Amino acid sequence: MSGYLTPKKKVWVADLVAKKAHGEKWAMLTAYDYATARTFAAAGIECLLVGDSAANVVYGYETTNHISLDEMAYLGAAVVRGAGNALVVIDLPFGTYEASDEQCVRTATELVRRTGANMVKLEGGSRIAPRIRALKQAGLAVCAHVGFTPQSVDNLSGFKVQGRDDSADQLRADTEAVTEAGADMAVFEMVPADLATELTAACPAPVIGIGAGAGTDAQVLVWHDMADFPAGDHRARFVQRFGSIGADLAAAAADYKRAVHTGQFPAPEHTF
Ligand code: KIV
Repeated sequence: MSGYLTPKKKVWVADLVAKKAHGEKWAMLTAYDYATARTFAAAGIECLLVGDSAANVVYGYETTNHISLDEMAYLGAAVVRGAGNALVVIDLPFGTYEASDEQCVRTATELVRRTGANMVKLEGGSRIAPRIRALKQAGLAVCAHVGFTPQSVDNLSGFKVQGRDDSADQLRADTEAVTEAGADMAVFEMVPADLATELTAACPAPVIGIGAGAGTDAQVLVWHDMADFPAGDHRARFVQRFGSIGADLAAAAADYKRAVHTGQFPAPEHTF
């Protein structure tokens, strides 16, 4: 692992708040298992998200709404074991926190206890502010998620940019509500860049953007998108590919198959 940039000491929320104060950008990536968590932490990624996007890219469900608490907990525990000094955030799955503050706190404490994650994330703006307040009172660190919220894809009538024109004021109100409720960080998903920049400047908590332009404090991508490991046919406009893991893995598998079929593998040096 020489030459790697593993954060030298544990990353805390306060470190990310300090980075915001100094105008220093930082990076978040999703992770769903031990090996990728180790790799991303070793690359110096400050923050790992055990996203409920695992529903799509790990479990092959059509939407994030199918993933269960158990399915999240097993992945989260593996990520935390590999995360080193990176701060680990985990999503509260759909259906496990909306009904009441009590349900939300019960779910979040169970998830943190079972995984060791540092922070929980939940989707929604003003409507979810009471849940954020309850989580803070229970002593948990909380990340809000506003703008496009995938768990509400049906309610939002599809994958759409949020906060355009008339709905900009709703996004302003949502950001203010989650901040006042005590959110330690906020994700802005699919928000016009100028609005995201305005709200990031007004928000005391670090803001992480995905499809929200360059004016947020940090960026997050689903790692399969970042490294081009396709788990479906759709590619969002906000994604940039920084690798070609899918093609590399397919080529490695084809080479392996050829070597087995031709008897070239295993060679004498692989044999006891
Ligand atoms: O689940 C996830 O991966 C997310 C990111 C897209 C922010 O919530």
